[in-house]
Amino acid sequence: MSVARPYNFSAGPAILPTSVFEETAAAVRQLNVPGDDSLESKLSILEISHRSKTFDAIHNEAIALVHEVLGVPDDYEVLLLQGGASLQFAMLPMNLGVPGKAAAYVDTGAWSAKAIKESKGLGETLVVASSKDTTYDHIPAEATWSDFAGSSYLHVTSNNTIYGTEFAELPDSGDVPLIVDLSSNIGSRPMALDKVALGYAGAQKNLGPSGVTLVFARKELLSREAPGYVPTILRYGTHVEKNSLFNTPNTFGILVLRNVLRWVKRRGGVEAVGKVNAAKAGKLYAALDESSLFSAHAKEGSRSQMNVTWTLGGEDRDAKTKDFLAAAATAGLSGLKGHRSVGGCRASIYNAFPEDGVDALVEFMREFERTQG
Ligand SMILES: Cc1ncc(COP(=O)(O)O)c(C=O)c1O
Repeated sequence: MSVARPYNFSAGPAILPTSVFEETAAAVRQLNVPGDDSLESKLSILEISHRSKTFDAIHNEAIALVHEVLGVPDDYEVLLLQGGASLQFAMLPMNLGVPGKAAAYVDTGAWSAKAIKESKGLGETLVVASSKDTTYDHIPAEATWSDFAGSSYLHVTSNNTIYGTEFAELPDSGDVPLIVDLSSNIGSRPMALDKVALGYAGAQKNLGPSGVTLVFARKELLSREAPGYVPTILRYGTHVEKNSLFNTPNTFGILVLRNVLRWVKRRGGVEAVGKVNAAKAGKLYAALDESSLFSAHAKEGSRSQMNVTWTLGGEDRDAKTKDFLAAAATAGLSGLKGHRSVGGCRASIYNAFPEDGVDALVEFMREFERTQG
């Protein structure tokens, strides 16, 4: 079977809604903002100044939608930065590490480990729990975490893109500011974001294209003075003061992010999108659980609704996995190869991924198992 447009299971950059492609393509040709008769409005989003009123309106709408659609509390600061989530791994300890206090981290996967590495290079770091010993197949229960009281902050990765695990609920961190890497599940369902002191997410999964990083935080956290060695561009205070326009932002990426958030709003917000996501993931996990060829990597209770990971059984598992991925690609199912660090398979089924694509995958898996299992 060949299809005009494959189902895109890529982990990121990832699938975006078709209507967002259309809306964005039009803005690349000519913005034509209703009610804006400036010359910029007659130009492409790719060529207008980030200091123009036309871009200002796009930027401000994007920020307003981050509050309204994603549920970031109104009194939080919202920044749209560059450098990806990876730059946040370094900016966090630089800006929010408190001398004499450890920064606490929960190690639930490769991205957590990268965040921990940056913190270790900059100051005392405490790993309060880790699931590394079981190939990050679960989120360690909060009751097993070591004490992190008195830490400068507690950092968690809410969804582990590579291993396919997800916190069912954001943890309670008491008086310690909770910092969350929400890169791969932001906007995927309602979340208690008021528990979060600072949250961040690379846009390229649920929010838009690569090259924009959303950061939101309680104002008092961002008003802290960073130590003298921290360069101007790496200080949160710089970006707060300049409303994310300290240097030229990713104007195109911010427009797409705004379009994606408009789409989520039209769909009924994170509540409605979350129900669809639960249904999609539920179908896929049910198929894995009833299979004797495929098995889900993530343990029940820790399973991600965004990235579903699995392996194939049997002695010839590597060859079989290769065959499976090749046959899937031929059937128009793209991007199912697991991350190079874990192997196996992964279906990233972010907000924009259609339910019929999950049905197609489930049917394909059943057929593969029946004929080649
Ligand atoms: C959970 C998580 N954190 C951080 C990153 C790194 O993001 P970036 O490539 O934007 O630096 C990723 C990338 O996939 C991720 O999934």
